[in-house]
Amino acid sequence: MQVEAIPVNSLGRRVAPMRERLLAALESVLDGGHYVLGPAVEAFEAAFAAYCGVAHCVGVASGSDALELALKAVGVAPGDRVAMAANAAMYGAHAALACGAEPVFVDVAADSTLDPAALERALDDRGPVRAVLATHLYGRLAQVDALAAACRGRGIALVEDCAQAHGARAPDGRRAGAFGDAAAFSFYPTKNLGALGDAGAVVSGDAAVAERVRALRQYGWERKYVSALPGGRNSRLDELQARILHEQLPLLDGWNERRRAIAGRYSRGIRHPDIAVPAPAGEGHVVHLYVVHCGRRDALRAHLAEAGIATDVHYPLPDHRQPCLGGRHAALSLPVTERQARTALSLPCFPELSDAEVERVIDACNRF
Ligand SMILES: Cc1ncc(COP(=O)(O)O)c(C=O)c1O
Repeated sequence: MQVEAIPVNSLGRRVAPMRERLLAALESVLDGGHYVLGPAVEAFEAAFAAYCGVAHCVGVASGSDALELALKAVGVAPGDRVAMAANAAMYGAHAALACGAEPVFVDVAADSTLDPAALERALDDRGPVRAVLATHLYGRLAQVDALAAACRGRGIALVEDCAQAHGARAPDGRRAGAFGDAAAFSFYPTKNLGALGDAGAVVSGDAAVAERVRALRQYGWERKYVSALPGGRNSRLDELQARILHEQLPLLDGWNERRRAIAGRYSRGIRHPDIAVPAPAGEGHVVHLYVVHCGRRDALRAHLAEAGIATDVHYPLPDHRQPCLGGRHAALSLPVTERQARTALSLPCFPELSDAEVERVIDACNRF
């Protein structure tokens, strides 16, 4: 019998049951006659701010733009330095560079998020930084309280990268986006909340920060055709994407619950001495990616491919080793980051994955 291949993710499966709803949403935008920064954007901004438990949300054109404009809005300017992890495919580093700032790369803890102790050491020993960027990688909340304390004591801004963590919730109820001075979201189609194209948002509890992002996303305008704020450009959110996102927002918590259930099954079921599974984290983890670690990663990947199971590597090359930085960080050693880049493997994990598929993945891992 021919067995179906199991993909890492499937957008087709996600949208199929929503087809009629999405078409109706698209039609309403078509008929509304307003296509950029209109009522659908405003309505989604209000709904998403309420969902995150913050006062303000500003829709922008992508997660990368959200990071860049959030950094600018908290005061990052040319010549500044921004501390961040080096294990998330350069997203944060590109944003810092786009501000004219330099990334300061800091090692991660075993949970793959910024290590607060390593951050403290970097802040004390490696010169002043303007902001710290904390990425909730794979959907797991970073150690935000310790990171916030390190920043607060030194007058440094904290910006969250929530591109993989929509809805992740701490035990006290605060969600990703509610911890920093500003937070950036991506709504790239594969994200836990995804548009049908590029989209992003900055959320903040600080009205002045939100106001600056609002100006920066439209040429730095203080009013029409008057560019008051330096660093502005076009990063507007489409009505179409906002309407699609708003339609899906009520489904996000259910999708995240299903991701957690799949992760739970994997973590209980995968019992192989060479495969380390992630620790459970309750609602603090929305499992954007289910990442295991294996010293024979490439062999495991080939074994799973043989069984018809697709996998991916998030991420294979740490930022401080990326060619575009031209060897500027050649002397820097980040042992945990470098080790995890060699061992990380993402297994299929998306809400529409069937229980039978999950069992097939577990079984294939255990037969490695
Ligand atoms: C952690 C992280 N930050 C930033 C981004 C950038 O978002 P975008 O692709 O929407 O620009 C992504 C995703 O692509 C991401 O995963």
